[in-house]
Amino acid sequence: IFAAVEMAPRDPILGLNESFNADTRTTKVNLGVGVYFDDNGKIPLLGAVRAAEKTRLEAAPPRGYQPIEGTPAYNQGVQKLIFGADSALLADGRVVTAQALGGTGALKIGADYLKQLLPNATVYISDPSWENHRALFEAAGFPVATYPYYDAATRGVDFAAMKACLATLTPGSIVLLHACCHNPTGADLDAAQWAEVIAAIRERNLVAFIDMAYQGFADGITEDKVALDLFAASGLQFFVSSSFSKSFSLYGERVGALSIVTATRDESARVLSQLKRVIRTNYSNPPTHGGAIVASVLASTELRQQWEDELAGMRLRIRAMRTGLVDKLAARGVAQDFSFVVRQRGMFSYTGLSAAQVERLKAEYGIYAVSTGRICLAALNTKNIDYVADAIAAVL
Ligand code: LMR
Repeated sequence: IFAAVEMAPRDPILGLNESFNADTRTTKVNLGVGVYFDDNGKIPLLGAVRAAEKTRLEAAPPRGYQPIEGTPAYNQGVQKLIFGADSALLADGRVVTAQALGGTGALKIGADYLKQLLPNATVYISDPSWENHRALFEAAGFPVATYPYYDAATRGVDFAAMKACLATLTPGSIVLLHACCHNPTGADLDAAQWAEVIAAIRERNLVAFIDMAYQGFADGITEDKVALDLFAASGLQFFVSSSFSKSFSLYGERVGALSIVTATRDESARVLSQLKRVIRTNYSNPPTHGGAIVASVLASTELRQQWEDELAGMRLRIRAMRTGLVDKLAARGVAQDFSFVVRQRGMFSYTGLSAAQVERLKAEYGIYAVSTGRICLAALNTKNIDYVADAIAAVL
């Protein structure tokens, strides 16, 4: 049965890790995957996580099956974080949340459920978007098309084109939106633009699926949920995938959630019953450890504050690396204006480097970036930033 199997291409992002790990150069730098490294080039184990893990280890809880949708403690913690503790949606029982295997897992169960609800819909993702969005919705059986988003000339959003496109979509189409820290461009909508997107979604009867994998990496936990606040106030029904991979530095624990906003408490009960069937036939129920850690951090005033401080530290360090890279490129006489790197938000910069330049960075310097020119600023540190700036200046 395997004789005719063809070799699949490597994943455009995680495949870079495989090549990076096989590279023996000691100066190598992995700017490919969206992972936060500290100034020593290590993935941090946050203090708040360490404290919650210590308590959990000492309590030595049994490892029974979790509920199919995860525990109430975790799911309610997620809801309060993404919608706000005093959200009217929560008081009205209009949000269904299920723990998922990271943000990707949340997208997957959301996509599978949407395929049951809207089997003939087309999914629209931003141009460009995270590489896995297309693959994931196609794997769920949807045709995937794009709406205009990034404007290479301004390094920002071509909002007029985006709006014009949304106004033409067939009712019932699914629109995938990035809540903040747009991946890969770092170009976000402002509150006024979000209001216009919501109006277009209402007008055309579209279904929004909001991906929020980087809450806290632009301006802060509260500031970064502006899109969700506006959607919540709109009265619309929508989907949200969220993730603690980055914000809790818990990548490998696969801790995320799918939240579905319904019209009524009664609808929520029915939607949850269906979502549980989707989960049960995918992976049965979620793992215990990561979700338990996140739930206990979010429930403790002290640990929650410690986590927010640590998240702010990550955010500020990335910003310092953005400024540092721009200054260092200018100091190397690079003619092109790179100041846009400071304006971009989140972990990534869409540098405008060509695929050939990215290839040279890899071949000549052992610096890995996504072939689209996306680099992860969170992998820069005070020890490798000069090397990276030298290399970028050279390939330019
Ligand atoms: C990324 O975009 O690099 C991250 O979201 C990691 C991933 O799964 O692709």
